[in-house]
Amino acid sequence: MSKRIFIGVAWPYANGSLHLGHIAGCYLPADIFARYNRMKNRDVLMVSGSDEHGTPITITAEKEKTTPQTIVDRYNKEHTENMIQLGISFDLFTRTTTENHKKIVQKIFLELYKKGYIYEKDVDAFYCRKCSRFLPDRYIEGTCPHCSYDKARGDQCDSCGKLLDPHELINVRCKICGETPTIQRSNHLFFALSKFETKLLKWIKGKKHWKPSVLKFTYNWLKDGLKDRTITRDIEWGIEVPLKGFEDKRIYVWFDAVIGYLSASIEWAQKKGEADAWEKWWKNKDVRHYYFLAKDNIPFHTLIWPAILMGYDETLNLPYDIPANEYLCLKGEQFSKSRGVAVWIPDILQKFDADAIRYYLSINMPENRDTNWIWSDFVAKNNDELVGTYGNFVHRVITFTQKNFGCIPPKEEKLSQLDKEAIKKIEETQKKVEEAIEKCHFKKGLRTAMQLAQYGNFYFDQNQPWKLIKSDKKRCKTVLHICIKIVQALAIIMTPYLPFSSNKIWKLLGHKKTIYECSWEDALSDIKTGTTLEKPKPLFKKLILEDFMTETDPFSKLDLRVAKIIDVKEHPQADKLYILNVDLGPLGKRTLVAGIKTYYTKEEIKGKNIVIVANLKAAKIRGVESKGMLLAAEDKNGNISLLHPQNSEPGSEIYVEGIPREPATTLELDDFKKIVMKVNEKQEVTYNEKTLRSKKGPIVTDRRIMVGAKIL
Ligand code: MF3
Ligand code: ZN
Repeated sequence: MSKRIFIGVAWPYANGSLHLGHIAGCYLPADIFARYNRMKNRDVLMVSGSDEHGTPITITAEKEKTTPQTIVDRYNKEHTENMIQLGISFDLFTRTTTENHKKIVQKIFLELYKKGYIYEKDVDAFYCRKCSRFLPDRYIEGTCPHCSYDKARGDQCDSCGKLLDPHELINVRCKICGETPTIQRSNHLFFALSKFETKLLKWIKGKKHWKPSVLKFTYNWLKDGLKDRTITRDIEWGIEVPLKGFEDKRIYVWFDAVIGYLSASIEWAQKKGEADAWEKWWKNKDVRHYYFLAKDNIPFHTLIWPAILMGYDETLNLPYDIPANEYLCLKGEQFSKSRGVAVWIPDILQKFDADAIRYYLSINMPENRDTNWIWSDFVAKNNDELVGTYGNFVHRVITFTQKNFGCIPPKEEKLSQLDKEAIKKIEETQKKVEEAIEKCHFKKGLRTAMQLAQYGNFYFDQNQPWKLIKSDKKRCKTVLHICIKIVQALAIIMTPYLPFSSNKIWKLLGHKKTIYECSWEDALSDIKTGTTLEKPKPLFKKLILEDFMTETDPFSKLDLRVAKIIDVKEHPQADKLYILNVDLGPLGKRTLVAGIKTYYTKEEIKGKNIVIVANLKAAKIRGVESKGMLLAAEDKNGNISLLHPQNSEPGSEIYVEGIPREPATTLELDDFKKIVMKVNEKQEVTYNEKTLRSKKGPIVTDRRIMVGAKIL
């Protein structure tokens, strides 16, 4: 491993609070890696900052009726604070609105232009006549050609996740005023990504150590040939294009943001008072550059940023590894600012210690597949593992020693077989965790470290120091000496993961320096025999789920019932709708309007049992009142299936185990929409990965439909 490591971490948009998905996706893995490498006495430079330009910012500002500057100032401040509170140890966390960054972006832009890697071309651009402006991708809305979601953005569909070209959208609208935009020719600047294709391919061939998912994403882009990309946009907020004729355009936010890795390194060097210090990381060939980010950012780091570097200055270092993570999800949904599915960092920091959050995010890290943030699991892992195994070991050792000896005892006799085994276990753990972290296998590293804590408890129990204190004081001292050795080793090995509690342990053990100045090898160094011990406070807090889960699950407000279709009529004023008469057993009969005519014939559904939302606010649909709504599954291909409640009686209740049934008298449609139900591999309908059931068994779809189909 080289002596010097550069760590670049994806720059968060300064348009909203950070959520747990951000932390698990890149900031925490980067920090674990940085802290570990510093302990290996390598020179680490870890930088990032707020991504403050582009339409993500202007759209937020327009929504809040304020200026982009207000938005970025607010969130840059909040993000910076949150990073510190979580212990994310950046050498510099800056922003893309600094003078330094602007200067370097424009310099690189001009250099690429001079070399012919940036060129002008007329393109068909969307223009809104009512707003008198060209519309950047995110100001265009329309129907997604892949999944038919009707609020897809010009650059991406939030429903199916596919990247889009705004020209692919159906029924295009201006997001500001709703008008249909016209197409006009407009002169833009392009980055000639295609010219780097051969070079990039050759470079990527050498990347055998990259994660399969990272290679896959990258080759997917390369497969169809690299296309040149527009790097100017029709907005006012951003870095000015340093060329005549482009005064009312700005540099594309992604082109500007990735350059932040270099400009931040330069800013860091200047602040340190050694203006050239950045070159040690960017020009020495034995430096490794690591980039941490979540999977949606992969091509920007594996292709576009390397191409910019290749074109600008061949002597600069390219990425060595890009260990991108998958997503951390909440209830099976991807965290998303725009859809409000998230656990916000400022909130969670008010309730829990940073190390408790770091522990669960590390042990549950989405390294190779999406994982879920599950509150009950967070509490269970905190209580059983962090408090129950690790915290308990440290606490019982220090408390017992303090009570009986008041200080760290020396070992006063030859070591037993078990003692020697314990020492070997420390050495082995340190090696294994090291191997895991070097390969960016952070989850595995933490699991291995936890095994040492488990072993510590085992060693303590085997030796029964509470008996030895009466029968054999000498032996008791030796046992506790070894226990404290394990505690000290754990503090060091846990530092990359749990920096705050590790430092507390370090102080308890009588060290003057902080643990952050220690080296990884200190896991094996001698303990400070004779140090006076203070009565310790527990390191971690036990959590009680009910204490902070005050909100009841929205699902409990739902009244789902089995209904039998007794009559089907065509809607006189709508050719896709049926008017159904349904029987709800003890609840009586009702009329429902349902849009399933294209998918089911009258004969097919008459007499059938279905599932309905019985307490949905009644609504007039094309002149007919519908009292409730039938549920159906719809997959990405637009297939529809009704739900099949086995042979339950009409009126039977449908429930999910563990969620109390407390239906609201009337449920608003908006509240219903927040409840996401999906179809699983067994064709069962699930909520939060738990199956919906009636007394007769699981609710399934009545036709085969794709896994992941949503219930509407
Ligand atoms: N702001 C982008 C996002 O949140 C990430 C930018 S990474 C950078 O998706 F390197 F380009 F800055
Ligand atoms: Zn408009």
